[in-house]
Amino acid sequence: MKFFVETIGCQMNVNDSDKITDYLLSEGLEYADDVLQADLVILNTCSVRFSAEHKAYSFLGRLSEQKDKNPRLIAGVVGCMAQYAGKSIKNRFKFLDFVLGAKELDKFAGVVSKFIETGGVRKATRKSGVFEYVTIMRGCENFCSYCIVPYVRGPEQSVSVDEILAETEKCVKRGAKEIILLGQNVNSYNYKNIDFTGLLKEVSLINGLERIRFMTNHPKDFPDELIDEIAANDKICKYIHLPMQSASDYVLNRMNRKYTYGKYKLLVEKIRNKIPRINITSDIIIGFPGETDDDFKETLRAAEDLKFGGLFIFKYSPRPNTSAYKLKDDVSTAVKKERHSVLLERSNEISKELNGYYINSEEKVLVDAYANGICESRNSQNIKIFFNSAKDLTGKTVTVKITKVFANSMSGDMREN
Ligand code: SAH
Ligand code: SF4
Ligand code: F3S
Repeated sequence: MKFFVETIGCQMNVNDSDKITDYLLSEGLEYADDVLQADLVILNTCSVRFSAEHKAYSFLGRLSEQKDKNPRLIAGVVGCMAQYAGKSIKNRFKFLDFVLGAKELDKFAGVVSKFIETGGVRKATRKSGVFEYVTIMRGCENFCSYCIVPYVRGPEQSVSVDEILAETEKCVKRGAKEIILLGQNVNSYNYKNIDFTGLLKEVSLINGLERIRFMTNHPKDFPDELIDEIAANDKICKYIHLPMQSASDYVLNRMNRKYTYGKYKLLVEKIRNKIPRINITSDIIIGFPGETDDDFKETLRAAEDLKFGGLFIFKYSPRPNTSAYKLKDDVSTAVKKERHSVLLERSNEISKELNGYYINSEEKVLVDAYANGICESRNSQNIKIFFNSAKDLTGKTVTVKITKVFANSMSGDMREN
């Protein structure tokens, strides 16, 4: 029996899909290279923006046709959209065999076992990637006014230190060199009085683990000890994703982000003073209800002033249940598009300018993929670096001299050691 997992959404979902894949492989099923070859298809969904839900509906439309041709096909939907709109998905797509919300993933084995023929003997495992995700916190209770995550993933819960260490060790044994610790706000990690800084110290003691990354850090509560630990600990990547969302205090307040632009800027400056080579990236929401031209200009100016290594810019999308849902979505699609493209263009120029400082620099990079004679790697700052190589160096750390820079990547020549 062959299976296929389609994943929409954030790293949390990627991590959940990895677990689903591990389970099905351990039951003797085989991974299908193509959805059309699969006997079991699982769609892992996201609700963060309407566009994510739209993607799921299109996928299910195509799957329905596949089911018409192959009535023996087993199909299930999991994840965030299944959590909050499970009933309507079941009603609309009657062919589905199961729908299981993100909070019920522990029931996956029980539910799916009814449908699968287990292979019996062969207990395969997923080949570990160079980097692997480890979830350290589930849920979120920050209730940013635009965000559906607290409603679909439930309240914040920290995973035990022991479980995190065991999971990380398992990944390292299977060949991972880098671990990415995941949580909606890792700064509020707390398990029996071990905070996130304490957790980082423990995880970094694991033998064979070369790099640690994490996301996401909420700017409202970034402790000084954490900044110091990132600065001092060689295993921790010099990269922080620090979503700003907006630089207008009026908008930030309406978003319930619990900081002002002034506070955010001070935090960025403090981090940069203590960790000289840090790369800071951010998320921005464009067109939040009530965002005026002046509010947007403040965000644009902040992007120019703070010079992020990269920006993820999203157009505001009203989400059911959230408190902002009651506000009028009053920034027109055309204005959202215009602001989005202005900011994106500026942000790309800035990223390219920042990458320019790397010309001729010798970067220590970890290779995570190889194709057509080109290695794809990242430095500690999480910048993508390409270089030519006759050999597949996946998993190896090498030195690359940077010769060319682009907005979102760089390229160079490997130094023979
Ligand atoms: N926990 C993380 C973010 C998770 S969602 C944090 O607080 O930073 C990832 C990003 O999606 C958010 O940072 C935000 O920029 C964007 N986002 C969330 N809800 C959105 C919505 N309703 N419309 C548009 N963008 C949204
Ligand atoms: Fe959503 Fe805010 Fe929680 Fe991030 S911190 S997941 S944006 S509610
Ligand atoms: Fe992630 Fe989307 Fe769920 S962003 S937590 S998969 S709603």
